[in-house]
Order: sequence, then structure tokens, then C-alpha cells
Amino acid sequence: MDTERRKKSRKRKLTESQLIINELDKKAAQEKEHDSKKLTNDIIPRKPTVSIALPGSILSSVPTDELKTYVIGQVARAAALFNISELIIFNEMSTNPQALSARNINLMFVHVLKYLETPQYLRKIIFPKHPDLQHVGLLHPLNCSHHMKQDEWSEYREGVVLDRPSKKKRGSYVNVGLIKDARVDMCIQPGVRVTVKMQEPDINRELRHYRGSVVSPLEPFETDIYWGYLVRYAISFSSVFSESTYNQPYDLIIGTSDKGEDISSINFPNKFKHCLIVFGGLAGLETCLEGDDELKVEDVKLLFDYYLNCCPRQGCKTIRTEEAIFITLSSLQGKLL
Ligand SMILES: C[S@@+](CC[C@H](N)C(=O)[O-])C[C@H]1O[C@@H](n2cnc3c(N)ncnc32)[C@H](O)[C@@H]1O
Repeated sequence: MDTERRKKSRKRKLTESQLIINELDKKAAQEKEHDSKKLTNDIIPRKPTVSIALPGSILSSVPTDELKTYVIGQVARAAALFNISELIIFNEMSTNPQALSARNINLMFVHVLKYLETPQYLRKIIFPKHPDLQHVGLLHPLNCSHHMKQDEWSEYREGVVLDRPSKKKRGSYVNVGLIKDARVDMCIQPGVRVTVKMQEPDINRELRHYRGSVVSPLEPFETDIYWGYLVRYAISFSSVFSESTYNQPYDLIIGTSDKGEDISSINFPNKFKHCLIVFGGLAGLETCLEGDDELKVEDVKLLFDYYLNCCPRQGCKTIRTEEAIFITLSSLQGKLL
């Protein structure tokens, strides 16, 4: 290939990856707008929430796309097993000029996490074919309460608004994964994912569709059903702390490290609204702090209410982040979770 053609092909590849990023950013922004609108308008959660944050860069040491996908699957399983309300993937290298490739890994992380959290019956509608999702078939399903079968009845169901006009424009139809669609009273843009509170059907009447109302995605969680996690992408380490899905600050912030305090000696407060547990990447949380221009503290411990070592007698020299998530969350069970 001559130099000119090589240049053109490189330029095309770059434009393609930029397009994918733009597309994902646009989708994320739309979802965020929709989710945050629902959260502000409806409810601020009354039940305590637990969020975990980790850098997408943990994938950079994982050699193949299959294995990268598998690691993301492990993180998603840990979150679902321990009822985590929000997963935050942050860009560890916001000050690094090579951030473009780092952003790709972060966005793949976000993309696969969202895919896994989505009920199977909505995946084909919400997620068009994409290279990030090429190996998701290898993953163990999350099997959460909202991942329902076509013949299962439940008070809540996740759905996607259909491009199907309703009579006199009175509301929208939603595919909720049942044989018949549900009609809701709100007029919503087609393609938007919504949580629907289903009205029990009258068994004596032949139904053309079910009826329901759109509620905050946090409502099922308020009634003690684990309804999956929300996913947030943080463009820098500092925005993990400064932004929030819940329109309220995190009031209990925990950092994790082998240099932290032995978890067995800690008594945690029994009241909090929004707990945030932060994990570092290959070089730990100190490096995340160094890679951020906004945070002015000298010592990383000062960012946290607790800085915890959750495996004080570790036999390996280092614990990988995806392992540390399981260890930390199970050590906190009964103490905090
Ligand atoms: C490869 S380690 C980072 C290296 C480093 N030795 C450290 O812990 O700071 C990746 C991440 O796993 C978590 N981690 C590692 N060892 C841990 C431990 N003993 N207790 C709690 N978290 C740990 C931390 O979040 C850490 O940033």
C-alpha cells in the first residue's frame, strides 16, 4: 500500500472510531437526560443506595476482546449479587493526551454493562450490532428480578416505547416483553427505555393491550426488589465525586487499597443516604489522583471517609480490581450492605 492510501485508511479508521464514540456519547446523553428527568420529577430514593466506581483502564492489561468482555461480566455479576444501585466507570487518564484509546475502553465497559443489565427481551431493540458487544454471548446472565420471561407477571416491567400511534395521541404503547404491549398515559418518544407499573388485567375481559403507568426506575428498588444497576460514565476521577445520579451528594465515601486500614477493625455508621465505594486501577488510587487536575489533596486518603484494606492477609502480591470488588463487597456485607 502506498503512503497516500495508508494515510487515507488510517484517517478512515480514526473517523469510524470517532463516529462510534460520538454515537455512544449521544445515546448516553439522551439516556441521562431521560433518566435524570424521571429521577428529579418523581422521587429521590428513600432507601440508601450503594454505588461502586472503578476505572475502565483495568481492561488495558487484558489481552483479548473475549477476556475484556469476560472481566466486564465479572464486575456486572458482582454488582448484581450485592444489590449495587449504581456502577460508575471513570476515565483514569483525563489529563493524558492519549485519552482517546482510553475512552474507547471506558465506553466498551459502559456499553457491555448496560447491555447485561437490560432484560433479554429488550436487547435486540435497544442495542444494534456493535463491535463492543461481539462476545457478550460468552457471559453468564445476571438473572435479576427484572429479567423476566414472556409468561411471567410482575407489578413492574421494563419496556421500550414503540413507534405506534395511540388513539387521539393519548399516551404511548410500550413493549414490556409480554405477548401484548402495554399502554401508558404519557406521550413519550419512541425508543426510550421506561419502567412501567403494570395494572392487573381484568381476567373476565378480552384485552387488546395491558395498561400501566411510567414510573421512576428507582421505584421497584424502593419496594425492596433489586432492579439492576444504573450506569454512569465519569469523564475524570474528580467527576466520580462531584457528579451524582441521585441529585444529592454521596455522604459515605470509601476508598479501597492494600495500604488501607484493616476492615475488621472498623465500625461503620448505620445511617447513610448514598454510599460510594471507589476502586483503583492497575497502579491504585494514588495514580488516579495524580492523573486528575481538579483534585487538590496531597494524600489520596483525604478523599475518603474510610480507606480500607479488605484482604489484610493476601497471599498474592496484588489483588486485581475485579477480584477486589468481590472481596470488598462480601466483607462489607452485614457491616454496611
Ligand atoms: C492492582 S490493585 C492496585 C495496586 C495497589 N497495590 C493498591 O491496592 O493500591 C487494584 C485495586 O484493587 C483494590 N485492592 C487491591 N488490594 C486491595 C485490598 N487489600 N483491599 C481492598 N482493595 C484492594 C484497590 O481498589 C486497588 O486500587
